[in-house]
Amino acid sequence: MNRRALILDELGLSPVWVRKDILAGLQANPTEPMLASVESHSPAPRPQGFSPVAVAAHQALAPLVNQAKFTPPPPQTIPANDPIEDERSQRIARMNWEELNDAVSTCTACPLCEARQKTGGQTVFGTGPMQANIMVIGEAPDADEETQQTPFLGDAGKLLSNMLAAIGEDEQVYKANLLKCRTPNKRNPQAAETLQCAPFLKRQIELIQPQTLLLLGRFAMKTLLESDEPVSVLREALQEYKQIPLVVSYNPSYLLRNLPDKSRAWHDLLRVKAALKSRTQ
Ligand code: URA
Repeated sequence: MNRRALILDELGLSPVWVRKDILAGLQANPTEPMLASVESHSPAPRPQGFSPVAVAAHQALAPLVNQAKFTPPPPQTIPANDPIEDERSQRIARMNWEELNDAVSTCTACPLCEARQKTGGQTVFGTGPMQANIMVIGEAPDADEETQQTPFLGDAGKLLSNMLAAIGEDEQVYKANLLKCRTPNKRNPQAAETLQCAPFLKRQIELIQPQTLLLLGRFAMKTLLESDEPVSVLREALQEYKQIPLVVSYNPSYLLRNLPDKSRAWHDLLRVKAALKSRTQ
């Protein structure tokens, strides 16, 4: 429990979550009385060594996370119609894990392979346990992630890990990207690249069969949900991809530049937690 409060504090989320009336009381009297009223709503033990505001935030959040009070709206199913699949996609859709890994590492289907081969770069398949509860899908690796063949490193990766840790789900997570190759100067994925890489991602999802999908950013979302709605709209409700509950949220690289959306991303993580609970209960 202390760890969660600490992480929330780290993320700068704690003050955002203090109810106005509680915050007013805390500011008027920063010691016991308002905390007592928070505690009367929530029996969770009060963590030691935190500011009153952080403690109140922790107490206010505990029921949401622990008792799954959050009730997701009914799934809004957006059909993931595959267009008539070409021969290559069909072949990929039959691959086992090793074949898929090999196919990705030797892929030459789009121009990104030329840059990869010129610079001696490599593909980034994904990392995590195959029996993961959550599959997180981002956009594309950067140069460092390419070198280490690991998605979500650096500050963005750290933010993502902290947020997953805050909902107690930092272990059973598989992390991958829509594109397996780095794009030049971190530019956005292009349509032709997405088209060629999407069958790999779809096969990864099918083989892992996660309990919940977490899509970070509009490109993965556009590919799997076939929707042009912005993240800000699709994140509002639980989605579904091939009967797997799917939560859309902001890419952590974006969150690093847009701090106010961190609190919205935290809500999305709670939605992931609630979706997981409803699948595993
Ligand atoms: N790192 C990744 O691997 N993917 C993203 O989408 C962002 C950062």
